[in-house]
Amino acid sequence: MAEFTLKVNGTKYKVEAAADTPLLWILRDHLGLTGAKYGCGIGQCGTCTVHIDGEAMRSCALPVSAIGKAPVITIEGLATKQGEHPVQEAWHEVDVPQCGYCQTGQIMSAAALLKKNPTPSDADINSAMAGNICRCGTYNRIREAIHVAAKKIKS
Ligand code: FES
Ligand code: FES
Repeated sequence: MAEFTLKVNGTKYKVEAAADTPLLWILRDHLGLTGAKYGCGIGQCGTCTVHIDGEAMRSCALPVSAIGKAPVITIEGLATKQGEHPVQEAWHEVDVPQCGYCQTGQIMSAAALLKKNPTPSDADINSAMAGNICRCGTYNRIREAIHVAAKKIKS
């Protein structure tokens, strides 16, 4: 066991854990942030996606010891005092989710994409979102919502 200090959603936390504990378990079990979900556990489905230093990363495949001082943002920290993130607003408007299980990861990947590329084409979206699997097949609505969010961010 070792002690780690993590900055998650703007708050510093001290956690005691084995160095190889996946960040996902720290978030869910130690900090009670259960928005990021466990899917495959091997970095393949995207349901555990969070932002590490602004990049969409798979928290199931990241040992807590690898995070260091990099700020972590989870779905719980995506909204600001001004309100929901434009991606979250677009998700409501388009009514994207079906069962909902994958959607945290989808939203976090979409938000990271729009930060880098505020006007993505369908091909850009397909490529950036390819690692986020949806067993319900909501891909068309996800694409539509990302375009809606892009317009919101632009205006
Ligand atoms: S649970 Fe992390 S990528 Fe599937
Ligand atoms: S909405 Fe059900 S897995 Fe994506």
